[in-house]
Order: sequence, then structure tokens, then C-alpha cells
Amino acid sequence: MSRLDTLLEIIRERRSVKWLEPGPIPLDKIKTALEAAIWAPNAHNRQPWRFVVVVDESVRRKLLYRMAERWREDLRRDGLDEETIENVVGGGLKRSMRASILIIACITMRDMDKYPDGRRQGYEHIMATQSLAAALQNMLLTLHALGLAACWRCSPLFAQEEVREVLGLPDDVEPQAMIEVGVGGVARNPSRKPLSEVAYLDRWGEPLR
Ligand SMILES: Cc1cc2nc3c(=O)[nH]c(=O)nc-3n(C[C@H](O)[C@H](O)[C@H](O)COP(=O)(O)O)c2cc1C
Repeated sequence: MSRLDTLLEIIRERRSVKWLEPGPIPLDKIKTALEAAIWAPNAHNRQPWRFVVVVDESVRRKLLYRMAERWREDLRRDGLDEETIENVVGGGLKRSMRASILIIACITMRDMDKYPDGRRQGYEHIMATQSLAAALQNMLLTLHALGLAACWRCSPLFAQEEVREVLGLPDDVEPQAMIEVGVGGVARNPSRKPLSEVAYLDRWGEPLR
């Protein structure tokens, strides 16, 4: 198989596994995935990503419960009733608890450019998150190639203070995402919009033939 075929196969095969099969995962495999992550393209090569690998069961539990509590509070503010909240949050918690390892993915603006105006500073922040996203795709593809299953979760973004507190993160480290990792599990088979709907040639609306 050519290098291109191998690459495309890994890209196409990778799926978000939402109901993970728990099991032992050698830390070396996680390190391999992290090593791949940090070779991603990133803004100014400042590498604004930071990762915390959570393997300890009690830390994992505390982290997930604290994030869930925050989620409950948000949903209460949205006006949802307690039963619905428990279904939504409890379901999410049950799901996340199946992960054998959690990788908390963060950014820091520490080494990024500083601008006097909010507009450009905001773009710099976006560049840091874009850099992290590139790293996470490398990570997910590598986990898949290692025979592991994973899913990207946005929960830490919505509970930054809680994550910061449980993991002892410095103030400038912003939790952005969580990668749940397990030894397997059944994935759905999501479709994609065709290229003709999302990509154009030369100008918007011109088909890419
Ligand atoms: C920024 C981002 C946030 C996501 N957050 C969640 C999440 O909170 N829960 C979840 O089940 N999946 C989450 N996902 C996974 C997506 O649901 C998944 O990638 C999408 O449905 C396509 O499926 P696939 O990854 O199998 O191709 C997230 C993915 C991304 C890129």
C-alpha cells in the first residue's frame, strides 16, 4: 500500500467512539499519540498546547463529577427541569466514566504574540485554539493507528474553572477539550457533506470539478 493510501485509510477509518470499551492502555501508546500531536502545524511555532493525561481513577472521577456539576448548573439556568437535566448530564457522565484515560487538552497564551487591541488579541487566541485542534487531529489519528478508540469532548471548555481547580492548572492555562480513550467500542458511521457543498473553485458557488 502506498504512503498516501495508508494515510487516507487511517483518516477515513478514524471515528469518534462515544461508548468506549474500557481496558488497560499502556502509557507508552498515549505518549506516542502526544508525540504525534506536538508535530502539528501551529501558530509561529509557539506550541501553545498543553496536555494533562489523567489515569488515576479518583482524579478522573473528581474531574468528571465537577464538570457534570457545572453542566447541571448551566442547564438549570437554561430552565430545564431536574429530570431532563439528570438524563442529559447523568448520561454524559456515565459515558465519560467508560474512558480508561482522559487527555485534557489546553492552550496557553504565554508565548503567543501580544497585541494592544482586543481585535488582534482575539485572533491570536483563535490561532492558539486552531493550533491545538491540529494537534488533536494528529493525536486522534495516531490513537486510531495504535488500535485504540477515542472521542473528542468539549466539556472542559464549558467548565474551565472546575478543570483548572481539580488538575491544579496555572491561571494562564485554558482547558479546551478532553480526549476520552478506550481500548475499543462501536462507532456510528457518520456521513459527510459532499465536496461540492463545501468547496468551490476560484469563487464562492463555482463548482470544483
Ligand atoms: C470541537 C469538537 C468538539 C466535540 N465535542 C464532542 C462532545 O462534546 N461530545 C461528543 O460526543 N462528541 C464530540 N465531538 C465529536 C464529534 O461529534 C464527531 O467528530 C462528529 O460527530 C463526526 O464524527 P467522527 O469523528 O466519527 O467522524 C467533538 C468534535 C470536535 C471537533
